[in-house]
Amino acid sequence: MSMWGGRFGAGPNELVAQMSESVSYDKRMYAHDIKGSQAHAIMLGKQGIIPTEDSRKICEGLEQVKEEIESGKFEFKESLEDIHMNVESRLTEVIGDAGSRLHSARSRNDQVATDMRLLLREDVDEVVQLIRGTQVALIELAEKHTETIMPGFTHLQHAQPIVLGHHLLAYVEMFDRDASRLIDCRKRFNFLPLGAGALAGSTLPIDRTFVAEHLQFDGLLQNSMDAVSDRDFCIELVSDLCILMMHISRQAEDMVFWMSQEAGWIELDDAFCTGSSLMPQKKNPDMCELARGKTARVYGDLTSLLTMMKNLPLCYNRDMQEDKERIFDAIDTVKVILAIWAPQLATMKVNKDRMYQSASDPALMATDLAEWLVRNGVPFRQAHHRVGGLVGYCKEHNKSLDQVTLEEMKTVIPESNEECLALWKPENSVRLRNVIGGTAPNQVAAQVKRWKASSFMK
Ligand code: ARG
Repeated sequence: MSMWGGRFGAGPNELVAQMSESVSYDKRMYAHDIKGSQAHAIMLGKQGIIPTEDSRKICEGLEQVKEEIESGKFEFKESLEDIHMNVESRLTEVIGDAGSRLHSARSRNDQVATDMRLLLREDVDEVVQLIRGTQVALIELAEKHTETIMPGFTHLQHAQPIVLGHHLLAYVEMFDRDASRLIDCRKRFNFLPLGAGALAGSTLPIDRTFVAEHLQFDGLLQNSMDAVSDRDFCIELVSDLCILMMHISRQAEDMVFWMSQEAGWIELDDAFCTGSSLMPQKKNPDMCELARGKTARVYGDLTSLLTMMKNLPLCYNRDMQEDKERIFDAIDTVKVILAIWAPQLATMKVNKDRMYQSASDPALMATDLAEWLVRNGVPFRQAHHRVGGLVGYCKEHNKSLDQVTLEEMKTVIPESNEECLALWKPENSVRLRNVIGGTAPNQVAAQVKRWKASSFMK
């Protein structure tokens, strides 16, 4: 008979177990379920709700169940629906009647909400560590490339020269916000639901504060109905993962382009590329492409969660069981990608010459001429217009900006002098962008230094 079978006649239809089981995937919470149950049992004993002898038996029995699971001896039963009932049922087989006291003052509703928090706390910590590893790889690479010149883009059109280190550190900033969002999310969800019971609390004299401290929660959820029906912590976490994946996918796209024959600026290590079954010459940046593709999948996880929770009346509804596969999928996907991201970056080869060559078109320095004019008293809008005129002149006469003589330049820009002819070198251009946050090599080196002093670099 099932654990809830008291009021039922015949057993459930044979398809019910198949449709309602979650143990095939929620068994990943076994250790967290056991840890939560042990804390609950100790509290029940301490409060005199169950004999302390039974409380001790429960804790030991749960250790045995854990060992059985870890050694692969445990038989997970679909008919017992989820990990919670699988563990409790085996516990009762092992220790007898004492086991059937464990669920006093508890429901699977507050139990699952507790287990998920215990599990996701660890996942958040792991993901943050992986983000830190990626930041370290980027910072170390940036340090080598504070003077490596390449074109910067807007609209995927050449805009102004930048240094590669600057580009890489832009992602370090994004990943830093991603880590901070996750840490913040963890702080917000690290409160104990247990004690909420099915929805309304318990008539038994439980000590929730004791359980919270035992399980290292920062406090108690203060409303039992909220405690069992809140899944915003899952949605917030997966939202944070979506933003992280959005950043990863942008960097992936950058690298796919950088490795194209058109750019030829980087080569990813063989270990992170794949070949073609047909074209013998191919070396493809598949991990970047998969990272882009898997971003869609994590977005899908978020959409499922949001849609699943929409319109659910308080409190617990079985729909909510559908949260787990989506959250686990998002976490697993992010972990796999982040684990590969740092070594892929660390082993990437950079073709500085090709990068420099691509940034050497003097048109990229047109802004520098406009700003030179501003430094010499010309209002910016006029300066922009005049330099635009010079670009037009070059197009018309089929020459590049650095082929224009001073006389020619003076016909379009009367304020110009020989200083202007020195503006066409990209190394001068980056050097002059010497503002905090700018691409000047000394500014980028200062940013590298700032990052290297952060706690995760030690
Ligand atoms: N496996 C269930 C879930 O994940 C546990 C809670 C079940 N509660 C219930 N009242 N049926 O949501």
